[in-house]
Amino acid sequence: MTSDTSSQIPLSLIAELTHRCPLHCVYCSNPVEMQKASSELPAADWIRVFHEAARLGILHIHLTGGEPLARADLEELIAGAHGAHLYTNLITSGVGLSEKRLAALVEAALEHIQLSFQDSQQQSAEEISGTRSHDHKIQLARIIQKFQRLSRLAFTMNVVVHRRNIDRLDEIIALAEKLVPDRLEIANVQYYGWALRNRESLLPTSRQLEQARATIESAKARLLGRIRIDYVAPDYYARYPKACMGGWGRRLLLIDPSGNALPCHAAVVIPGMKFDSVREHSLEWIWRQSEAFERYRGEEWMPEPCRSCERRELDFGGCRCQAFLLTGNPSATDPVCSLAPDHHVIEEQLLRINRICEQVSDRFPEIWLYRTSSPLPSSRTP
Ligand code: SF4
Ligand code: FES
Repeated sequence: MTSDTSSQIPLSLIAELTHRCPLHCVYCSNPVEMQKASSELPAADWIRVFHEAARLGILHIHLTGGEPLARADLEELIAGAHGAHLYTNLITSGVGLSEKRLAALVEAALEHIQLSFQDSQQQSAEEISGTRSHDHKIQLARIIQKFQRLSRLAFTMNVVVHRRNIDRLDEIIALAEKLVPDRLEIANVQYYGWALRNRESLLPTSRQLEQARATIESAKARLLGRIRIDYVAPDYYARYPKACMGGWGRRLLLIDPSGNALPCHAAVVIPGMKFDSVREHSLEWIWRQSEAFERYRGEEWMPEPCRSCERRELDFGGCRCQAFLLTGNPSATDPVCSLAPDHHVIEEQLLRINRICEQVSDRFPEIWLYRTSSPLPSSRTP
């Protein structure tokens, strides 16, 4: 039996075209076990799925990875998405993107590009990504400016922030003022995948977050009408959890590189889940009937205190993957919630990090586990 929310229309499709990526970011949200190039869905199947998505009512497609530029057929995929009347957004590190290829992507009808930066400073940016890429990103942003003017390509600059770079928010915003995106997204790390493994080195302190909030508020006021700034706060410090993915199986669906459809990017961590593939089922069948999308739809699965909480239609009990990663129970109230029986796991972590940072400040150990297709032991800066 399907739940009522299966009749809702998803807004966006997140297409993870590949897990291949030239970067090794320490907070990558890709699964720790990544898929091989040989298992990737061919372009013809993706384009069929784009048309199915449009028929389902989906308006936007986010082409992501890994690094979607690793797909030699990206132009064909963008043209196919546009042919299905989807608004196309490319989420990219920019590594490997030349002016010539960007022109070809725009020619294929790319409408929006989201370019990631790791920091305002080269050395720290490259420490986080494990790759020499910062100067190229700056040159690329200047090339994107041309396409903003000539082809109305919309440009978002994205910067992930954490304990090592959040004190440079002023500099990061100043860099954005030079590169003039339409939108600047500053997002705190979310602790899944590789980020959870590096949490010790990434979690900001409460002092840093207070300062960050003040910096963001003043930049928003100063840049009003010039650059829109969106700030994603870290949910570990929030009173209530985020409505992850807008609620399980309510707004978004994600297809991984091999064609499995998932309600979110981290759902593979939850034991016992079966993800149906677009190779075998229509997107509509998957959205409305697949077991994975039904599992945490609606409210029947909710434990107390969520079941009788007045916020349950706002945050849907938080994030199922985070609940599993932090408590071992995917049906638990997200421990980020201050009302959750397991909230102590968050409080203890924050207390520990804040206390250690106060005591050792910049002498906190610099150990990173870099994203790689064959997991490495902990390593120092390359
Ligand atoms: Fe949300 Fe559940 Fe916390 Fe209520 S108890 S705020 S529904 S996570
Ligand atoms: Fe899976 Fe939040 S990431 S439900």
